[in-house]
Amino acid sequence: MQPTKNNNTFYVTTSIPYANAKPHLGHAMEFIDADVIARYWRGHGRDVRMQIGTDEHGQKLYEAATLVGEEPKAFVNTMSESFVELAQLLNINYDYFVRTTDDQHKLGAQHLWKACQHDIYKGEYKGLYCVACELFYTSKDAVDDCCPVHPNRQLEELAIESYFLKLGQYQDKLIEMIERDEYRIFPALRKNEILSFLKNNQLQDLSVSRPKSQLEWGVEVPDDSDHVMYVWFDALANYITTIGYGTNEEEFAKWWPADMHIVGKDISRFHAVYWPIMLMSAGVDLPTSLYVHGFINAPGGVKMSKSLGNSVEPAEAIEKYGVDALRYYLLREIPYDGDGEFGLERFHTVYNADLANGLGNLVQRVATMAVKYCDGEFSAVASNDHADVRRLIEGCSFDQALDTIFDAVRVANQTIEDQKPWQMVKDNQPVDELIGSLVSSILWIAHELSPFLPDTSAKIQQTFHEGRVDSGVGILFPRID
Ligand code: MSP
Repeated sequence: MQPTKNNNTFYVTTSIPYANAKPHLGHAMEFIDADVIARYWRGHGRDVRMQIGTDEHGQKLYEAATLVGEEPKAFVNTMSESFVELAQLLNINYDYFVRTTDDQHKLGAQHLWKACQHDIYKGEYKGLYCVACELFYTSKDAVDDCCPVHPNRQLEELAIESYFLKLGQYQDKLIEMIERDEYRIFPALRKNEILSFLKNNQLQDLSVSRPKSQLEWGVEVPDDSDHVMYVWFDALANYITTIGYGTNEEEFAKWWPADMHIVGKDISRFHAVYWPIMLMSAGVDLPTSLYVHGFINAPGGVKMSKSLGNSVEPAEAIEKYGVDALRYYLLREIPYDGDGEFGLERFHTVYNADLANGLGNLVQRVATMAVKYCDGEFSAVASNDHADVRRLIEGCSFDQALDTIFDAVRVANQTIEDQKPWQMVKDNQPVDELIGSLVSSILWIAHELSPFLPDTSAKIQQTFHEGRVDSGVGILFPRID
């Protein structure tokens, strides 16, 4: 039995992207989602661990390295670095970056394998394989002999010696745990998808290794140097290999079970079916929750891709508009329970409307008026009413949380339009109270925004600090034409 976790900790993870290409906006969004959760819980006094990283084994990686004539390790070193750079660029305050080529990870994955050994047997696998997914499909799944997810990728017929993990005996237990939210999968739509998959299919045993004769680039199977682990077995293990699984019981008990895994909809089955079964087999508790986000597409709902010329580099968007603008867009415009779109035109419109004319303008106007009419002084108390936004953030409804916060921005700007403080001054009416109440709203907004737009929030709080305006902060979001 695992010791009980100290509940003042919070452990949140993203999936670990393949280090076979440079990161894109989808990866950026997942980092940002997890960063909001991590910052939020740190702000509420929890001891937080946020883990990100890169998935560096498997055939796809090997092929990508070979294509550019590099050794796989040298290749993933460079690629992994680009994900570290992305995290820095996005102002992601993560605690740990795991690489599946790290020795500690490899040892932990082998330890997990051994713990599952009683459910693992050797057999032969025959099937249609998609290298891009690193996944076998049945002929029913194939579309014109091609992968259902990668329409141009021909499925390869493969017959290989492989180890298998028995899954069936855990199926009923898993259904029960998901139904009872003992492993909470959300949004509800994703939970229902997984439950209907589990209820309508008898789980096939999972192929969990590849013969080295086919692929050497992986974590060696314990006690069989002719095989490496299937890349997903290795990759999923990352969530526990870095927190002392099999090596440091105390550390492991501190962080596990993870409070939240965050992954995209295309890999929900790995996290909602295979991963919990691997853990059950190993006698390890399941994570507490799994948030499954949607996809960012190009305008018109089409897939973003370099070859179509409709993809946007995160760095390109940040350079022109700033990091908080990109964070804002991805958090606000990609719905909690579905797909969203990113196009530079829409980004530009949202930036000017919500950030330059909305929030930026509000802060600027109120600071200027406080200086002009009140000698830079104000008396304000930020409201302590955070319940609505808290509930939305904790449930990963970032879009709705930002809706609520930006409603307050709209209301404050409207109050200025309606009350016309400049007119009140002309009419010799006192404006201190009005300015104080506007600053109070702004301070509430800044507080609520701190996990979402950390730099902006800090600048606003610096502008209105301890009853005085500091005008040195400058314009938050200059209008861009
Ligand atoms: N290596 C695996 C994950 C292993 S986790 C133990 C993998 N990598 S990936 O690079 O293909 O995807 C990484 C994450 O990015 C996934 O959660 C995936 O859903 C997400 N996204 C990939 N494209 C995306 C969009 N266009 N939009 C949003 N997220 C998307 O799967």
